[in-house]
Amino acid sequence: MHDLNFNRHRRLRTSNAMRELVRENHITTSDLIYPLFVVEGEQVRTEVSSMPGVFQVSLDYLDQEISELEQLGIRSVLLFGIPKEKDEEGTQAYCETGIVQQSLKQIKANFPSMVTIADTCLCEYTSHGHCGLIHADGHVDNDKSLPLHVQTAISQAKAGADIIAPSSMMDGFVAAIRKGLDEAGFQQTPIMSYAVKYASAFYGPFRDAAESAPQFGDRKQYQMDPANRREAFREAASDVEQGADFLIVKPSLAYMDIIRDVKERHDLPMVAYNVSGEYSMVKAAAQNGWIDEKAIVLETLTAMKRAGADLIITYHAKDVANWIQQS
Ligand code: PBG
Repeated sequence: MHDLNFNRHRRLRTSNAMRELVRENHITTSDLIYPLFVVEGEQVRTEVSSMPGVFQVSLDYLDQEISELEQLGIRSVLLFGIPKEKDEEGTQAYCETGIVQQSLKQIKANFPSMVTIADTCLCEYTSHGHCGLIHADGHVDNDKSLPLHVQTAISQAKAGADIIAPSSMMDGFVAAIRKGLDEAGFQQTPIMSYAVKYASAFYGPFRDAAESAPQFGDRKQYQMDPANRREAFREAASDVEQGADFLIVKPSLAYMDIIRDVKERHDLPMVAYNVSGEYSMVKAAAQNGWIDEKAIVLETLTAMKRAGADLIITYHAKDVANWIQQS
């Protein structure tokens, strides 16, 4: 045996301490962004049926929620609003008293160090559930929708959003929002662009949570075809050119190759969105006792970091923070 020449990789795996010493990627609570669904009304804390452990909360439960996150060491939240009234133009998305605007004011007043990220889109606010205005011929009108995105972003920045996160996949939304924010005096407000967003079946449970399913058709005319890779480079390059400060790739699990590719091409902070369907699959299997939830979640999120994610938007954030605190 002694004349064989081979490497002893197992030397570095002999104990937990040794493995920790050579571990290349880690999850920390400051990497995690927690999505929050804020709903109009009072005394609402409703669990989303397809997302166990995720709640729609009204403003009177918001402080409790944010304070729990702070105690867990989670420093940023991504806000989605669920208005009482929806209309064709998504008015509640850019209204000064909209639910997200009110949430932002409340969070910034009571928890000034919490980083607030506002999802900038119309789909939760439009009666038809699409991410922009509907043209007479039935398609989503890109250029007519842009000014409403700008108005939404400005109203969110005014209410105290630390970061604007446009997610509608309208062409030019970063350029339009950057210009709008600058002119309104928000030169310092960064844009976290959903640059590479696929038309994915993994968003199903989110649409229950945000009550934002399209009432006709689908989003394939604006979100990307899951079969495409080079298209992701074009999307990311456009957003970088237009002034994005962060790039999101979404979903994550089936798109690890894209996370890696975009990371290698661009130097902006890379964000992976571990979406609702990815969360629900894990929860369902865990509830059936088929998988070890903690091990699966930590393995998955660590793999996203290995793929190149600097930050991860995840519904698992609280669980992960709890596990980290306990370890
Ligand atoms: C809004 C938006 C969606 C998600 C984030 N922002 C839904 C969609 O595009 O249909 C999905 C998030 C998730 O599934 O967790 N446009």
